[in-house]
Amino acid sequence: MGVYSNRSHNIVPISKCYIQNKICNDIAQDIFEFIKENDISIYNEKTLKGTVRHIIVRIGVKTNEVLVTIVVNDNNFKKEKELVEYIKSKYNQVKSIVKNYNTKNTNVILGTKNEIIFGEGYIYDILGEYKFKISPLSFYQVNPIQTEVLYNTAINYAGKSNKVALDLYCGIGTIGIFASKNFKKVYGIEKVAQAIDDARENAQINNVENIEFYVGDVEEKLPEILKNIDEPPTTIFVDPPRKGLDNETINVLKKLQPEKIVYISCNPATLARDLKELEERYVIKEIQPVDMFPYTSHVECCSVLSLKNSIQ
Ligand SMILES: C[S@@+](CC[C@H](N)C(=O)[O-])C[C@H]1O[C@@H](n2cnc3c(N)ncnc32)[C@H](O)[C@@H]1O
Repeated sequence: MGVYSNRSHNIVPISKCYIQNKICNDIAQDIFEFIKENDISIYNEKTLKGTVRHIIVRIGVKTNEVLVTIVVNDNNFKKEKELVEYIKSKYNQVKSIVKNYNTKNTNVILGTKNEIIFGEGYIYDILGEYKFKISPLSFYQVNPIQTEVLYNTAINYAGKSNKVALDLYCGIGTIGIFASKNFKKVYGIEKVAQAIDDARENAQINNVENIEFYVGDVEEKLPEILKNIDEPPTTIFVDPPRKGLDNETINVLKKLQPEKIVYISCNPATLARDLKELEERYVIKEIQPVDMFPYTSHVECCSVLSLKNSIQ
């Protein structure tokens, strides 16, 4: 319970994080105290032994629903039922508690297997006019207030057209669903299956009928989908992880030549690298930083690119 010191896995203990939601802070702190008081073992990255690896607390800021995920390395979580009762009775915002198994020697936080130990295993939040289901393995932007600013910037950049758009790296379908009212059809691609299950349900909950989601790596699924759709996309949203776009995807974009690419990035270094490649065919019209991570050195950016021979 703390932050890593620079370029290491040494933990600097902190009991209160001022940029974290207060309830999330309190819940995490209470779970940590419970673990210490009850002698529940903590995973050691060097010996690869011990039970609890991470505590993840997520809140839907508009719905006030909380999802707690406890990442464990083995089946030896003592007093699990007592912990669930304690947290449930103290915080009625907690809608679900999930145990996630991660037994690998890795710094990836989540494993693939979940066990719901309380509630339904997910929460909802609201962004703009839409409601979204969020499951433990699904990505959800960490700053939902600024997420609305980010998504509105992206859909304004994309504009309206009676044509087809793609939402690549779509997570639970948020950007595609925001954009759906401005396009004839939207297709989303995401590699985490649980996020695509959420995305499909999110389309239903919000009565969005002109969107389809596919699970798979963008590198593989994008060429496949392009072969199977009737009309080529004119607008492509990309929102990749910090490592940015891979060469294959950049080449597909350059060959496909959609009129607009809206590139959302949480890493300015890989954004600059990828835009440089895309500049061969595209003009960078605008880049808007959005402060998703206040009081840190990180910044999200939303940029819009126009195809060189079709600048509008
Ligand atoms: C920065 S998040 C953006 C998610 C979503 N657009 C949003 O705003 O919530 C990047 C997403 O890309 C997914 N992802 C990472 N690598 C991928 C790949 N090679 N193919 C497809 N999806 C990938 C991650 O699981 C994650 O959901």
